[in-house]
Amino acid sequence: MMTDPNELVRNAIRSVPDWPKEGVTFRDITPVLQDPRSFRALIDIFVYRYMRQRMDLVAGVDARGFIIGSVLAYELNLGFVPVRKSGKLPFNTVAEEYKLEYGNASVEMHTDAVLPGQRVLLVDDLIATGGTMVAASRLLQRLGANVVEAAAIIDLPDLGGSRLIRESGLPVFTVCKF
Ligand code: PRP
Ligand code: ADE
Repeated sequence: MMTDPNELVRNAIRSVPDWPKEGVTFRDITPVLQDPRSFRALIDIFVYRYMRQRMDLVAGVDARGFIIGSVLAYELNLGFVPVRKSGKLPFNTVAEEYKLEYGNASVEMHTDAVLPGQRVLLVDDLIATGGTMVAASRLLQRLGANVVEAAAIIDLPDLGGSRLIRESGLPVFTVCKF
């Protein structure tokens, strides 16, 4: 019997209770990446969704968004640009601060990462409060990008992030929910 690709991915995600702190259930994608079948199913889900859309770049969020974002950019024949945690990029940067489910952070991009008007797909592994995606999208918009969609493997809808992102005007696509 053929396994539904979304179910294959969802079933491979490991839930780790009380990590990194009590009360947080960490949704760990490393088993998805480790198994070639679920890794391919995951990338194919994104490829089929975006292969017919006109896009210029994939922007991946540090660090887990780099893993799928770069593979997806390669498969779609697009460029890849990193949205990095602060202090890692060597050239001129722009930054946005945001709140995490567990702490504060800020993200940065190189000022020349995107040309005005370029169509960009924003990719990360997971949407929790949505703070990271909203900050990354703001950064891209400040650089003049047209952010087409926010794509992630996992949505944690109870934390309201995907709703927040949609309310900010950005469409959201996720493979599964927990
Ligand atoms: C995690 C995850 C998302 C973000 C989601 O990243 O990979 O980027 O949190 O949370 P939010 O929707 O509440 O903003 P983390 O900062 O833990 O970094 P990592 O990818 O380097 O592990
Ligand atoms: N990032 C923010 N919340 C997370 C969670 N519950 N699992 C994995 N990554 C996360």
